[in-house]
Amino acid sequence: MSNEHEKQLAAEAAAMLVEPGMTVGLGTGSTVAFLLPALARRRLAVRCVASSVQTERAATELGLHVEPFDRLERLDLVIDGADQIAPDGWLVKGGGAAHTREKIIAAAADRFVVIADSRKAVPALHGPVPVELVAFGLPATLHRLRPTVLRPVPNSPDGGVIADYQGPVDDPATLAAWLDATPGLVAHGLFPPSWLTETFVARGDAVERRTFTLERRADQLGAARRVR
Ligand code: 5RP
Repeated sequence: MSNEHEKQLAAEAAAMLVEPGMTVGLGTGSTVAFLLPALARRRLAVRCVASSVQTERAATELGLHVEPFDRLERLDLVIDGADQIAPDGWLVKGGGAAHTREKIIAAAADRFVVIADSRKAVPALHGPVPVELVAFGLPATLHRLRPTVLRPVPNSPDGGVIADYQGPVDDPATLAAWLDATPGLVAHGLFPPSWLTETFVARGDAVERRTFTLERRADQLGAARRVR
């Protein structure tokens, strides 16, 4: 069974989660490209936010209502693809260089759903991990982040330089903390399990749905406790 078929099945299953009146964040990539027509066919009154110019253009052409992410504080549902999904729910994203905006919409989501073909389910995360960097002081940031190589793609719509960290990913939490603490790094492509509510991974003709809701809820409760 082809990967494209699996992407389509996963995307179409996730499109059924959308309900009238929802605010919906749309990810980026070839799997999301199957989500957009599936969602448009349902003709629901929903407000969408896109994580990339490509997604915004494609969604708008299909008749979806896409608005800038400058009025909404939360999103009911975000559906996005991933490059790697580890068994514990850690993700690597950013193969399409959109991970900074994808991270912003995922962090704003009440429900963050990842759709993927079976190749994306991996026993353990590995490099490369996409990063977006500030152009100022780029050689110094790259030196600090070595081994990281620039990716020959245009800058992000926010002006960030896209590169890939090529080192080991033995412990995603430790690596994510180190990347987060690096001056000049805008965002990296490691997404923690606590952000994830569900995965839809297609294998052949079947879609495996896995929920991470309890972990996410526990994290949110923890965050709520910390601010009190
Ligand atoms: C873009 C992403 C994509 O979600 C990820 O690269 C998966 O893409 P695809 O669905 O084309 O395999 O993170 O920045």
